[in-house]
Amino acid sequence: MLTIEKVTKRFGGLVAVDKVSLEIRENELLGLIGPNGSGKTTLMNCLNGIYKPEEGRIHFRQHLLNPLRPHQITRLGIARTFQVTRIFRKLTVLQNMLAPVLHLPQEDAALREKARKLLEYVGLLDMQESLGGELSGGQQKLLEFARALMTDPVLILMDEPFAGVHPVLKEQLINLILDLHQQGKTFVVISHDMASTFRLCQRIVVLSSGAQIAEGRPEEIQQNPKVIELYLGI
Ligand SMILES: Nc1ncnc2c1ncn2[C@@H]1O[C@H](COP(=O)(O)OP(=O)(O)OP(=O)(O)O)[C@@H](O)[C@H]1O
Ligand SMILES: [Mg+2]
Repeated sequence: MLTIEKVTKRFGGLVAVDKVSLEIRENELLGLIGPNGSGKTTLMNCLNGIYKPEEGRIHFRQHLLNPLRPHQITRLGIARTFQVTRIFRKLTVLQNMLAPVLHLPQEDAALREKARKLLEYVGLLDMQESLGGELSGGQQKLLEFARALMTDPVLILMDEPFAGVHPVLKEQLINLILDLHQQGKTFVVISHDMASTFRLCQRIVVLSSGAQIAEGRPEEIQQNPKVIELYLGI
């Protein structure tokens, strides 16, 4: 579905992503892990057009993504949530939901109905008139997730969805991801929450200093000597 070929992204002399090649398959749940600063967010930023890699190519189905801007990539069916939630604090929850679809020629009433259905799906319908800034951190993550679904994505990129989220909301989020996966959606999930990542994902890719050092099923990754060394320093 998404093919990443030898992608390199530098910031001055720092190689944040170093010749990463990776294939994301239709309807898979892929985990992306690695220590702080290993390049996970930067790679995700390359996938949705926030950064342009200096080298390498990214294809989504038949489209070359490199020259495209983030909104063009969104329209191809790739949605994204952020490590630091990017909701509009002064807009209501419902207005936040409508922000990604304002350009669509659809009936306003139909879009509002869709937004309400998705808010209900993530358990935030009661808060539709609250301001974004009034939501808790975990609720903001749920709102961002629901908002990402407004554009009917086929591939959903999630950067640290569980960070700072209460266990009950985290469980809810995991179940929503599993449910959407069942419905055919593809996910890439970055997380430092090993237990959730290993439970959720069928395949895990490990980055270290911008380079891919391991790839495999959760049980393989847990036993991989390079990964053990990276996480435990032994
Ligand atoms: N805009 C930027 N300008 C300069 N350096 C950057 C920029 N963004 C990221 N970096 C650097 O690139 C490297 C990779 O950062 P990145 O945010 O991708 O790591 P990460 O794996 O997501 O880490 P974390 O788990 O802490 O979120 C780091 O050394 C970081 O300092
Ligand atoms: Mg990050």
